[in-house]
Amino acid sequence: MTHNAADHTTTNAGIPVGSDEHSLTQGTGGGILLHDHYLIEKMAQFNRERVPERVVHAKGAGAFGELEITGDVSAYTKADLLQPGRRTEMLARFSTVAGEQGSPDTWRDPRGFALKFYTEQGNYDMVGNNTPVFFVKDPMKFQDFIRSQKRMPDSGLRDHDMQWDFWTLSPESAHQVTWLMGDRGIPKSFRHMDGFSSHTYQWINTAGARFWVKYHFKTNQGIEFLTQAKADELAGTSPDHHRQDLFGAIAEGNFPSWSFEVQIMPFADAEHYRFNPFDLTKVWPQEDYPRVKVGTMTLNRNPENFFAQIEQAAFAPSNLVPGIAPSPDKMLLGRVFSYADTQRYRVGTNYQQLPVNAPKSVVNTYSKDGAMRYAYNAPEQPVYAPNSYGGPHADTERFGDAAGWSGGGEQLRAPYEQHAQDSDWVQPGTLVREVMDEPARERLVANIAGHLSNGVSEPVLERAFEYWGNVDAELGKRVEEAVRTITATTAPATGQSPVDPTDEGAKV
Ligand code: HEM
Repeated sequence: MTHNAADHTTTNAGIPVGSDEHSLTQGTGGGILLHDHYLIEKMAQFNRERVPERVVHAKGAGAFGELEITGDVSAYTKADLLQPGRRTEMLARFSTVAGEQGSPDTWRDPRGFALKFYTEQGNYDMVGNNTPVFFVKDPMKFQDFIRSQKRMPDSGLRDHDMQWDFWTLSPESAHQVTWLMGDRGIPKSFRHMDGFSSHTYQWINTAGARFWVKYHFKTNQGIEFLTQAKADELAGTSPDHHRQDLFGAIAEGNFPSWSFEVQIMPFADAEHYRFNPFDLTKVWPQEDYPRVKVGTMTLNRNPENFFAQIEQAAFAPSNLVPGIAPSPDKMLLGRVFSYADTQRYRVGTNYQQLPVNAPKSVVNTYSKDGAMRYAYNAPEQPVYAPNSYGGPHADTERFGDAAGWSGGGEQLRAPYEQHAQDSDWVQPGTLVREVMDEPARERLVANIAGHLSNGVSEPVLERAFEYWGNVDAELGKRVEEAVRTITATTAPATGQSPVDPTDEGAKV
């Protein structure tokens, strides 16, 4: 909701105010009076202007747009928004992961790719990244992983030693770290990167048949990246580079778009597929499951108010609509809890009533009250269910079908079941040898070596050489050589001699 432009300033209660510039004082030299409630309102409101930043993905930018379905996937899903010809209004937010609100856009990091579709059956959120895999495969490790990428408890500094310590003790991270250290680790802009669901989701068609799917959003602007040197320069000269690029392009009518494509796996294939298809550290090779075009996503409208529409936007993997459901991916199942929980805290209990988060379809909920509630049910509507007084009731016939899978067995804490070709090293090795060309491999080695040469302790370094040797033997050697060369030639950062000439030992 926007306020009308008015010809005179008012308080938040709409009361005309006497001055925009002068507080109320007892005479020109006297004290400020407590009953200047407009001054008090200005100061108090200011003190409360920020909400907590997102615990991850704090720095980002967003825009509104449209998803148009040009293909026909109706045989695989009954989801209303995915039926041929549908056009659905949407919001996208792109972000870095580890940096805080004011951090530079060009730090090496995965980029968030969060989408909210305002469908006729409620909001559908697709909260992905610009990489098809992730660092860990069990939600139990996510919090530790994120802390290792954030800051040290004493100095408040980021620390490469803890990043590599965590990665090298978590071999499942190798695929994502290879993406991160390669060219895709710093996109040229948000417009020049792909988006992925990363997770496997489930689709259900009108007959109740189930399929496994992965989403790809292929940029129509082309994949472009920044070298480490260019990114470092921009971090100093243009820290909001990606935010500026997206806003500027849309303001000029240069609307970015992505081709929405999916890989579809028959339900029964999952059990014996060569990789565990629910493991978030793996992709499905496209020779097995080719991409099918579904439609086009275009961003064509900038926010009018960054705070109200982007900062307060709340995307959640639990926002799934009929025809789309989770898969046994443990990370996805963890995320289904996490987002709405943080948003009740970050924005407030009734965050879903804010215009940017509110569905455009009818809401018929029994939830009530809570701080800042704005919408409420008609007074004659019962506050409980079941009831015999005409309140809403679940349409079990249409929406009660079992989206799920059979997953019996004992309760246990265990890794995923390994399939024939499951290994943490195979897919990153393929990425290095078969997807990257030699110049890209050279940049990969330089990026890894530069990162490792900055404050990583010897035992962690040794493990890192072994880690890259497991990804690819040749890569491991090249990384070790490059690190040893850099550390042998680097002068101490302070400019002081490494040896104190007054030290007794230095004289002999
Ligand atoms: C168990 C694993 C994970 C947990 C517990 C988790 C948790 C969170 C939390 C708490 C937020 C902040 C949300 C907010 O304040 O609105 C967030 C943001 C985000 N996460 Fe995750 N995350 C996980 C894994 C992932 C993965 C695997 C992806 C991508 C495939 C991802 C993509 C994002 C994105 C894009 C955002 C920013 C959304 C926005 O723009 O508002 N996360 N995550």
